[in-house]
Amino acid sequence: RRPTRREFLGLAGLGALAVGGCGLLPGGESDPLPGIPRPGKTGHVEKYTFGAAPLDFDVAGQSFSTWGYNGDVPGPEVRVREGDTLRVRVENRLPEETTIHWHGLPVPDDMDGVPGLSQAPIRPGEDFVYEFVVPMSGTHMYHSHVGLQLDRGLYGPLIVEPKSEDLSYDREYTLILDDWLDGVSGRDPERALEDLRNAGGGMMAGGMGGMMGGGRIEYPLYLVNGRPPEDPKSLPVRRGERVRLRLMNPAAETIFRFAVDGHPLTVTHSDGLPVEPVEVDALTIGMGERYDVLLEANDPGVWQVAAAPEEKPGLARALLRYEEVGQSSPPPDHRPPNLAGRLLTYADLRAKGLDSFPGDGGPFTGPDRVHRLTLSGGMGAYEWRIDGQVYPGAEPLEVREGEWVRIELQNQSMMRHPMHLHGHSFQLLNGTGRGPFKDTALVQPHMGGLALDFHADNPGEWFFHCHNAYHMESGMARVISYE
Ligand code: C2O
Ligand code: CU
Repeated sequence: RRPTRREFLGLAGLGALAVGGCGLLPGGESDPLPGIPRPGKTGHVEKYTFGAAPLDFDVAGQSFSTWGYNGDVPGPEVRVREGDTLRVRVENRLPEETTIHWHGLPVPDDMDGVPGLSQAPIRPGEDFVYEFVVPMSGTHMYHSHVGLQLDRGLYGPLIVEPKSEDLSYDREYTLILDDWLDGVSGRDPERALEDLRNAGGGMMAGGMGGMMGGGRIEYPLYLVNGRPPEDPKSLPVRRGERVRLRLMNPAAETIFRFAVDGHPLTVTHSDGLPVEPVEVDALTIGMGERYDVLLEANDPGVWQVAAAPEEKPGLARALLRYEEVGQSSPPPDHRPPNLAGRLLTYADLRAKGLDSFPGDGGPFTGPDRVHRLTLSGGMGAYEWRIDGQVYPGAEPLEVREGEWVRIELQNQSMMRHPMHLHGHSFQLLNGTGRGPFKDTALVQPHMGGLALDFHADNPGEWFFHCHNAYHMESGMARVISYE
């Protein structure tokens, strides 16, 4: 029998474990999970302190009050190596309880940050220390998991460097896409949710339109790394360089379509895990999803790096700026033509560099259990359900340790839902037998379907929910519970 990750993490420190063999791991360390290699401990401890507090946030010359970590939105970059111990002291100086969720990392369940499920929330004025061995490399995020706090600005990037990687590039940038902030619209998110519930349809959260006092800023406002289109972040490059972009979408309710004017993109990772490289013009990034892409800087100029909300007007942007050219830049609302070019689909993605796959024989023996679930709800009553049930109060979905679990989703609603699983990566069944490993995936509307497999190797109680923060708060969540 293969050890579980928990046993593995407990044993790895002894350096005495030898099961199987995984070509990706240096030093003869073993792979406790079919498919996804887990690192051994490095012994290095990386420490951070996060003060969660109200702050003044400057957008295009105006100051708004909202909430964030260490005085900024997004919060500080966390950068560690896989196998390191990450220790984060959270000082809650908010007027409410809070937690942090390490989105994308299969941490032990008492470090997962779901209030009332994996931990008691951190009370105002109190501190809490998160500490765990970082189990996986990749581009991930962290954010508050209490109510709609994410939407106020309590999020940030979590980058885990691999022990080794066969990817070469000259520089990298992290681009964090967001929709409006409560301080920008002048309403707090709880009020926005109330409005949705009272409106009986027709009105999107944050989409009340109009201008801020003074008439200078329109909202909703779309941000890249906290900056509006009027004040874009510059990404300096030199001709001939290979540039890695780490893209993440912690927005509350906006699916973005991303493209860089004049430059095709090679997708190398989805939700932190490697995929066979695929070249596209544009990609869709749902809430909670991450992608890594490479671009070749071979066309000097100043180019729009655009994230366009799908199905809504507006644009978030940064600028790709070759060092040898002048300061002129495209207008804030310039939409690169390749936004409408070849778009990445899940069917294009194949997991890369892993030992074994469900369907290959090997350690995949399942599925041992299938949960077939519908997604439903609508703008009318503003209630969103998984298999007819609303969280809290919905029955847990049972699994047993060691099983391969298949979840089949059918979307009976008219909206797309980015479904996110805590504590595990899943493999999308995309018809290739080698679908990508991810932890968040968009389910298409109007009877769209999606199926995924995960290995139940991380005992605990885990959230499975829509990453539209307003849908999650309106019931679209279930607990996956190990019996
Ligand atoms: Cu990023 Cu339960 O979420
Ligand atoms: Cu949803």
